[in-house]
Amino acid sequence: MCAKQVKKVPGQVETTGHSWDGIEEFNNPLPRWWVWVLYLTIIWGIAYTVAYPAWPLLTGHTQGVIGSDQRADVEADIKKFDDANAPIKAKLIAADLATIPANEELKTFAESAGASVFKNNCAQCHGSGAAGVQGKGYPNLLDNDWLWGGDMEAIHTTITHGIRNTTDADARYSQMPSFGKDGILDKGQIGQVVNFVRQISGQDHDAALATAGATVFADNCSACHGPEGKGDRNFGAPNLTDAIWLYGGDEATLTETVTNARFGVMPAWTGRLSEDQIRSVATYVHSLGGGE
Ligand code: HEC
Ligand code: HEC
Repeated sequence: MCAKQVKKVPGQVETTGHSWDGIEEFNNPLPRWWVWVLYLTIIWGIAYTVAYPAWPLLTGHTQGVIGSDQRADVEADIKKFDDANAPIKAKLIAADLATIPANEELKTFAESAGASVFKNNCAQCHGSGAAGVQGKGYPNLLDNDWLWGGDMEAIHTTITHGIRNTTDADARYSQMPSFGKDGILDKGQIGQVVNFVRQISGQDHDAALATAGATVFADNCSACHGPEGKGDRNFGAPNLTDAIWLYGGDEATLTETVTNARFGVMPAWTGRLSEDQIRSVATYVHSLGGGE
């Protein structure tokens, strides 16, 4: 039941005239403080949109009268840090590469800058902990087993120009022949040399095949991998006598490697990274455990 009539009872607050089953609603005014807070927030809102960038326009937006711009603030912050780091970056670029790891100031800066360069650019292949991906040809950078060399100069050259890429004329380059595919060795000889490689790496092998394989190795492999199979950094030829494998030391993988060869490619980083970044990440890699 709802009766629409304003009932005035002397001495009592006016009601709205609404009545539901006899329950009526007082017609109290809004509290004054509440009304003022409402007006203030409206004024604040208008003032804010005048002061700060707010309203979208057809192209862009209103700029706001006090000229606040968060993008410019961030750019200014970045520039501030860049300016603060400029002197040490200049020192890093000017330093003799070999002396950087012994220079406490440069080393501290380069290692922390290099760690973030590594996470952003190298981790996808070498792993976030730089342990590489065994079997895929992404070398572990934590050990002291180096394909191309582990002193600062060698690491710096590897990173700067990359390996077997087609974009940098100074990239490190070498190519192991595809002994099986190109018919240089037949299946029997490949089985022999594979057993020889398993022998020199201290794994199970067929002794008779390995003995025959020693000759195959001396004739076909030692030019790059060295007479004892210990590798040669001039060709990026891995040491075959240790337990560290780029692709794998089991019989099937060795047979695949000798039959079809491998062609590990690493991009060049000049042009993508600045010289101070390359030097930082070289110092970082050098510091990881195997630096010479
Ligand atoms: C696209 C994958 C890829 C990326 C990204 C990559 N690498 Fe490599 N890196 C390789 C491969 C593959 C090899 C081994 C090539 C070979 O067999 O000689 C290699 C080799 C190296 C070597 C030589 C190791 C040795 O034993 O001599 C160093 C040092 C190295 N990378 C550092 C880096 C750094 C630092 C970055 C980042 C700036 C990086 N790599 C990014 C794939 C990559
Ligand atoms: C022209 C130089 C050259 C010759 C000759 C050569 N190799 Fe290689 N070998 C390489 C290089 C360079 C690599 C690394 C390839 C890569 O990372 O892409 C390699 C890689 C390998 C690997 C992979 C090692 C691993 O860690 O997984 C094996 C095994 C191997 N060679 C065995 C042989 C055998 C056996 C012969 C002879 C039948 C031979 N190589 C002849 C240059 C050579």
